[in-house]
Amino acid sequence: MNLTTNLGKLKLKNPVMTASGTFGYGKEYSEFIDLNNLGAIVVKGISLKPMKGNPDPRICETPCGMLNAIGLQNAGLKEFIKQQLPYLRNFNTKIIVNILGTSINEYIELAENLEAAGVDAIELNVSCPNVKKGGIVFGTDIKIFEELIRDVRRRTRLPLITKLSPNTADIKLFAKAAEDAGSDIISLINTITGMSINIKTRRSRLANITGGLSGPAIRPVAVRMVWECFKTVKVPIIGMGGIISAEDAIEFILAGASAVAVGTANFVNPIATLDILEGIKSFMSGNNIKSLKELTGTVKC
Ligand SMILES: Cc1cc2nc3c(=O)[nH]c(=O)nc-3n(C[C@H](O)[C@H](O)[C@H](O)COP(=O)(O)O)c2cc1C
Repeated sequence: MNLTTNLGKLKLKNPVMTASGTFGYGKEYSEFIDLNNLGAIVVKGISLKPMKGNPDPRICETPCGMLNAIGLQNAGLKEFIKQQLPYLRNFNTKIIVNILGTSINEYIELAENLEAAGVDAIELNVSCPNVKKGGIVFGTDIKIFEELIRDVRRRTRLPLITKLSPNTADIKLFAKAAEDAGSDIISLINTITGMSINIKTRRSRLANITGGLSGPAIRPVAVRMVWECFKTVKVPIIGMGGIISAEDAIEFILAGASAVAVGTANFVNPIATLDILEGIKSFMSGNNIKSLKELTGTVKC
């Protein structure tokens, strides 16, 4: 059975990856799973300078999912390259770094430094709903979005993944713009902006008031968006949003994903990624499917 998947220049040994922000820097999960078995590890979003994130409470559970407003807390680029990357390099898996800047120049600086440090790909986080500056502006203003991708593209040879925001009227326009601007791959979806209120205190359950909804609650929206983007662009798609089982992952693949990322499920089941990989293998052998390509985008409509 051939589980390899070619995301343009980026070749993965299998299609199961982690979703940024839900798997720390890999080390946190290494006592539960052998990281060598993952198709790729996508690490928590990295900014140039360390970020403290938002005040507590920053997460709350909601029906079939959760809201988070972490606010991209991270130790910054230098610390990542010095402290986290050397550990990750010990594993036979692709290392993808999710990056976030408050200006185009910051994204470029991040990309150049990470290329020099030897990571396998970068994922542009243009779609985080939980920070005041940066992120979401790039993800929802199509002109700035295109300019950002074009400028980063010119400055790095690394495979470039653009992570799309679902918080827009028509995600297809952004998928097409990302492709036209030189993105090699698109990934979707990031979280959907939501809010939950404690009716006793009449306060939002998050200090940031709103947060990003993730988990199975968003899956049908994510599958629909992957399907729409698959019909719109030629670049490969990484699908995510509420994947907790192999069946969920296969839904995304049939809708058009060439790889899948597992996010919130990691918090409930730290071995979710490998359970999903095993489930994909049994689905393929049970249905006499030799290669993943036979499945991608083959939903009958
Ligand atoms: C706690 C938490 C932190 C996240 N941090 C990031 C991040 O740093 N960068 C990013 O692009 N997406 C981030 N995300 C979004 C996930 O990568 C993913 O797109 C989203 O959660 C949908 O997938 P899921 O439903 O499987 O979790 C975060 C999600 C959660 C729940």
